[in-house]
Amino acid sequence: MATSRIMILFLLFIATVTGHNITDILKDFPEFSEFNNYLTQTKLADEINSQGTITVLVFNNTFASEYLANQPLSVVKVALSIHCLLDYFDRPKLQAIGGGSMTSTTLYQTTGNAVGETGFVNITDLVGGKVGFGSGGTGSRLDALYERSVKQIPYNISVLEISSPIVAPGILKTPPRSNANITSLLEKAGCKTFANLISDTGVLKVYLTAEPRGLTVFAPTDAAFRASGLPDFGNLTDTEFISLLLYHAIPGYVPKISLMTEKNPVRTLASNEIEKFGLTVRTNGDSVTLDSGIDNSHIESSVLDSVPISIFKIDHVLLPAEYFTKPPSPAPVPVPEASPPSPSAHSAPSAPSVPSAHRPIASSPAPVTTTSPTISPPAPPASPTSPASYPVSGPAPAPSDSPTADTGSSNSSGAYAGINVPVLLLALVTGIISSIVG
Ligand SMILES: *[C@@H]1O[C@H](CO)[C@@H](O)[C@H](O)[C@H]1NC(C)=O
Ligand SMILES: *[C@@H]1O[C@H](CO)[C@@H](O)[C@H](O)[C@H]1NC(C)=O
Ligand SMILES: *[C@@H]1O[C@H](CO)[C@@H](O)[C@H](O)[C@H]1NC(C)=O
Ligand SMILES: *[C@@H]1O[C@H](CO)[C@@H](O)[C@H](O)[C@H]1NC(C)=O
Ligand SMILES: *[C@@H]1O[C@H](CO)[C@@H](O)[C@H](O)[C@H]1NC(C)=O
Ligand SMILES: *[C@@H]1O[C@H](CO)[C@@H](O)[C@H](O)[C@H]1NC(C)=O
Repeated sequence: MATSRIMILFLLFIATVTGHNITDILKDFPEFSEFNNYLTQTKLADEINSQGTITVLVFNNTFASEYLANQPLSVVKVALSIHCLLDYFDRPKLQAIGGGSMTSTTLYQTTGNAVGETGFVNITDLVGGKVGFGSGGTGSRLDALYERSVKQIPYNISVLEISSPIVAPGILKTPPRSNANITSLLEKAGCKTFANLISDTGVLKVYLTAEPRGLTVFAPTDAAFRASGLPDFGNLTDTEFISLLLYHAIPGYVPKISLMTEKNPVRTLASNEIEKFGLTVRTNGDSVTLDSGIDNSHIESSVLDSVPISIFKIDHVLLPAEYFTKPPSPAPVPVPEASPPSPSAHSAPSAPSVPSAHRPIASSPAPVTTTSPTISPPAPPASPTSPASYPVSGPAPAPSDSPTADTGSSNSSGAYAGINVPVLLLALVTGIISSIVG
């Protein structure tokens, strides 16, 4: 028993020491501290560390200030990802180019956003034993010269200093994509229900307030909101429903690779000291799953990855364990439409009354001042005036015996009985915003 535990500790130790860590490597070189900080802020460090073989071309603080200081982080990320070659180059290998010239793929090329040949770097052996690096394509200027080898771990990572940044045409003029309209991006990505919910409840404002410091959003698809077996959100109070939407975002810019190395549980925008609202991230190869404790949601794709914002499309609504209970695992509830109650069952084809599955807590974008008829304080949720019982499935009156809807939520909703809910909402939303700003 004890020996196996020691064995496991030993294996963990091995696992932590073998992978390279660019942040740690550059820490010993103060002249590259700005480059290193940028790698951390843009999360490129995580991408570099996840590559089995990589060469990082670094430039010193003088150039980093000159070249990058006034750029938005999304542009800095692109500019630096051009300096990460997906191959191993050390001095002998550069010298072996022998009067010739070659092209290397960069991390930028892997984003699928590279324009023309800007995702490649041209490496050419110049006269006089100098090696020049330039942006891909013919006619590129090769004025970033090899200076020295900074660190080599063959054949995993090589860090080389170059005499100046590699400037790819047009790169510094890219408009930051984070200026994009989040709701219209979500709509185009097939997450219209979620887009409507966050704008109607005012949660979008909270997201936008958090964004400058970094924001990552998990947007369930429209199919996820139509899935059978989804609990009746009409039973949640307004505050609880807002928390459910805040639960779909985490503070900080976290692209996919970084998500895979996040420490569990991951805090969400719904997290506070009293209730946890954490998410557990699980990875299996390239696939990433978010576990709320109640259900698992799989990341389908990235909708936007532009520092400081990252938006993912997910295939299930995230149900916080604070509000819902797990359905009994075999879940032998016979549903007439023969759609299995398994969480992977997506759209209910017989349900045409779809995405207007609006929870009617707020019908205008300024929910805070809206008094919706459903929010009559004395009779908390449960009122059948709510047209939006979430399981949209047609004739099947499943919700009553749906075990996923929590009885525990009535506790917390009871606590708010008698309180003017709009005031509470206002306090909640402004409280969240000020805690983010402050
Ligand atoms: C290089 O990477 C491989 C695979 O990630 C690892 O097994 C090996 O230990 C690494 N080598 C060094 C010197 O860290
Ligand atoms: C990499 O090194 C830095 C600085 O030493 C450290 O703070 C960070 O936790 C390390 N990252 C990983 C994934 O080990
Ligand atoms: C960066 O390199 C340039 C050219 O070699 C040099 O003039 C400058 O002093 C260096 N800056 C730092 C911070 O090392
Ligand atoms: C690299 O650039 C030089 C100068 O523009 C060009 O002559 C050479 O063909 C390029 N090499 C490759 C492999 O594209
Ligand atoms: C974003 O797009 C939506 C329509 O998709 C529109 O209603 C909204 O006004 C736009 N917001 C901004 C800030 O442009
Ligand atoms: C949810 O509300 C419906 C009525 O809207 C009610 O029939 C059902 O029992 C409630 N479920 C729970 C778990 O409170």
